[in-house]
Amino acid sequence: MNILINDTKKIFTERFGKEAEWITAAPGRVNLIGEHTDYNDGFVFPMAIERYTVIAAGKSLAAESTVFSVNKSESVNVLIDGSAKPADTVTWSGYVQGTLQNCVENGAKLQPFNAVINSNVPLGGGLSSSASLEVAAATLAEVIAGHRFEPVQKALLCQKAEHEYAKMPCGIMDQFISALGQKGCAMLLDCRSRMPKMIPLDDPAVSVLIVNSNVKHELTGSEYPDRRRQCEKAAKLLGVPFLRDATLPQLESAKPVFDKEPDGGVCYRRAKHVITENDRTVAAAEALAKRDWKTAGRLMYESHASMRDDFEITVSEIDILADIARRLDGVIGSRMTGGGFGGCTVSLIESSKESAITEAINKEYTTATGIKPTIFATTAAQGSCAIK
Ligand code: GLA
Repeated sequence: MNILINDTKKIFTERFGKEAEWITAAPGRVNLIGEHTDYNDGFVFPMAIERYTVIAAGKSLAAESTVFSVNKSESVNVLIDGSAKPADTVTWSGYVQGTLQNCVENGAKLQPFNAVINSNVPLGGGLSSSASLEVAAATLAEVIAGHRFEPVQKALLCQKAEHEYAKMPCGIMDQFISALGQKGCAMLLDCRSRMPKMIPLDDPAVSVLIVNSNVKHELTGSEYPDRRRQCEKAAKLLGVPFLRDATLPQLESAKPVFDKEPDGGVCYRRAKHVITENDRTVAAAEALAKRDWKTAGRLMYESHASMRDDFEITVSEIDILADIARRLDGVIGSRMTGGGFGGCTVSLIESSKESAITEAINKEYTTATGIKPTIFATTAAQGSCAIK
């Protein structure tokens, strides 16, 4: 992170002729298991990764506040007086504007500022680049205003920005882990109680490997909201408030009710994924807490199959990556991570075999798809912070 912070500070000084007064950072995340369970009031098991969005900022003498994105090479003005409204089109600055607006509405009094935003979280890669941007912006609002939000509230107001300004009806996982992650730990989060349980993931013999398929997904398309609707319908057909409240036997006995609906088969499969994924997530967290890698790995493979067959959110490149990983010596478990339709896989691997595994995935994936993957190992990182 230090290189990224220094680069961002330097760019700030070059643009504004003085040193940055405030610096904040928020990480991206990888979800080890528990996909599309958060908005069903279920369990997720993410960890923050060593990829961050960093913001360097200082007071502005003008009335306007500006934010410059290094990644997009674009500067825009943002409103800090509480008068912002979501635009019709979704832009990167909307994430910042929406977050600032929600911070102001919740008591942060901002003064005009200039900011430089710089990120090494792959954009649109399923590693929560947008949540890291929102959480870094909320942390900036906190330091400028001298107003600390309670961390869960901070995650929620970032999620609200994503709903309103990015028009993406996401769950709470990404903003939550980016705001509350702890170094060396993965987080089992009960999305109903919003109570996190930190599980140490710090055995040097085991590493988390992220493979970006470099196939981009577009979650502002209809796929994600469609899945949400299908899950809500399934819960209704089962007579429960959320799929979190249903069991597999309950789903089996309700099959005739599903069969009467035109989209009953689809809703049944969505429910099956969510119900089984919740169980797998809790079991995987228990296994990892005991360093029972074998069980955790098996659950990851099962999770992938469930996302592929029942939730139908994988794409062929991602299935190829999971299949390659499964055949390699030293891979304990592997699955797609994030919202789906491209993005990344996450694998649990034996650390001593990291370079052989990386080389093999690189070669086999490129041969099979003609696309070069991006591969990196990460430890569990710290959540958002104000560095200055
Ligand atoms: C996206 C959303 C999350 C979650 C995942 C799928 O990352 O932002 O809330 O629903 O997809 O698990």
